[in-house]
Amino acid sequence: MRKYNVAVVGATGAVGEELFRVLEEVDFPIANLVPLASARSAGSMIEFQGKEHKVYELTESVFEEKEVEIAFFSAGGSISAHYAPYAAEAGAVVIDNTSHFRMEANVPLVVPECNPDDISAWKNTGIIANPNCSTIQMVQVLKPLDDVFGISRVDVSTYQAVSGAGKEGMNELVSQMQDFFAFKLGESAPKVFQHQIALNLIPHIDVFMENDYTKEEMKMVNETQKILGKTMEISATCVRVPVIRSHSESITIHFDNDVSVERAIQALKDAPNVVVLDDPSKNEYPMPIIASDTDDTYVGRIRKDINRDNVLHLWCVADQLRVGAATNAVRIAQKWIEMEG
Ligand code: A2P
Repeated sequence: MRKYNVAVVGATGAVGEELFRVLEEVDFPIANLVPLASARSAGSMIEFQGKEHKVYELTESVFEEKEVEIAFFSAGGSISAHYAPYAAEAGAVVIDNTSHFRMEANVPLVVPECNPDDISAWKNTGIIANPNCSTIQMVQVLKPLDDVFGISRVDVSTYQAVSGAGKEGMNELVSQMQDFFAFKLGESAPKVFQHQIALNLIPHIDVFMENDYTKEEMKMVNETQKILGKTMEISATCVRVPVIRSHSESITIHFDNDVSVERAIQALKDAPNVVVLDDPSKNEYPMPIIASDTDDTYVGRIRKDINRDNVLHLWCVADQLRVGAATNAVRIAQKWIEMEG
């Protein structure tokens, strides 16, 4: 099997580290691995497949110098905006985890379980965008239901883990919990989040837009329609919760037609990388501690609306760093190899 030179931009970050784990687990066909980060981390070492690999500084020329063929970007939107075109220019396919290119019409936005064929549009710019973490797990559940019943409207509330704010976000929750046990919670000002996150919920992720929704909420609205390839009504409320690394979502779905819970459950059971966990008699339903460190999206609490036969409610949980970022990026790369490599 052909092997590829693979770069990871943001190699020392939370998603970067998870990418290495996923690449290792799927035995990704790597010829040379090129970990890239800022000048601060250049020269440090990361371990991959039992070997030490040097971290290089991200520069405009490194992709050409290292003959990179596949470049995963996970170092923030402004880094992707500047450097991804250099990687593409050097002939690499860029799989970008940031929001920077997602809504550009000529850049495919891909969840391989939903719209794998869109990958072929990578040729337009050399870039494939990885969707927002909350969007990925939601569309994995919406797509099979849309195929059977036709979705007309979605209302979602998210319960998003601190891993979505990177390592610094996770550290902030841990250090505030340590402060709590040392009776000094609240003594140091929050740095990553707008307010204390330990023992709290913050209904504010990313910046507020003119329409009073946050940018995170509008990502879910716009990205979902681009991935599913249809216009529908969507409304989101995104909330940061003191959970380390799995996002949960309460989703209400309106369909064109009346739904059967049994058929919905069957469609979800048949969907790739979706696990139905739904047995109230055994207190069985998805929770962050079940989803964390796995590659599946868990769905449960599937029930019909009390008043309307064309409305379902459900609860969905997935690991933000894996399903919502690294795993989806690697699945895109595997599909790209299958289709174009
Ligand atoms: P570094 O560790 O050298 O700062 P997280 O999302 O966990 O906060 O991680 C962010 C990732 O993005 C890290 O790997 C970080 O590298 C990388 N990064 C941040 N700023 C830059 C930059 N200016 N150039 C290259 N990589 C960067």
